[in-house]
Amino acid sequence: MKQNTLKAAVLISGTGSNLKALINAVESAGLELNIVRVVSNCEDAAGITHATAANIPVKVISHTAFPDRQSHDAAVTKVLQQDQAELIILAGYMRILSEDFTNNYCGRMINLHPSLLPLYKGLDTYNRALLSGDTQTGASIHFVTAGLDSGPVISQVKIPILPDDDVASLSTRLGPLEHKLLVATVELFCNRKVHYQQDSVLYLGHALEQPLQLKHDGSFF
Ligand code: GRF
Repeated sequence: MKQNTLKAAVLISGTGSNLKALINAVESAGLELNIVRVVSNCEDAAGITHATAANIPVKVISHTAFPDRQSHDAAVTKVLQQDQAELIILAGYMRILSEDFTNNYCGRMINLHPSLLPLYKGLDTYNRALLSGDTQTGASIHFVTAGLDSGPVISQVKIPILPDDDVASLSTRLGPLEHKLLVATVELFCNRKVHYQQDSVLYLGHALEQPLQLKHDGSFF
């Protein structure tokens, strides 16, 4: 690994398929990323096994052990600081974050969300897209700022909603594309092509007017 390889921490709560996609990309596709830590707020998160199999240090910090959101986030912050993580990747981390935490990592923390933001912040996104009669759905990666699933959107991937689609079929079709979106977006950070500036995304030095769109082959257009 090169000396200036970006150090990232990945925060999870569950399955960790996106974490696994990042690990695969590092191990087999030449992604120059140093995953220095995985943090889970759930001790039984299945994704922990992906980290241990790849020899990535894991810290379980259960939110149930803390009196409030702020003290839990402070414990997470302490670990991230010890690890000198430069990029914080929320990959299925099912926690609302305190303002101290989002302020502290403003411009250095990204979240993967299963909708075409700004549509459908929060939960149950596929169902809400179906109920609204939308003709497409997708996933977004955004910088995390105070406010649920807010913050400037860096990148998106879209799929059409077909007449027979339901939540399960959308999730099956979108899952692999979410993985590609995360890997391709993190690669932009590894190559220092993306930065945060005053509530906007700088891509190659210019403010993005629209999120980058991922082609289904894994590249942006
Ligand atoms: C993904 O669908 C992501 O969009 C959402 O949570 C899910 C995480 O899946 N934020 P996994 O734990 O990475 O498998």
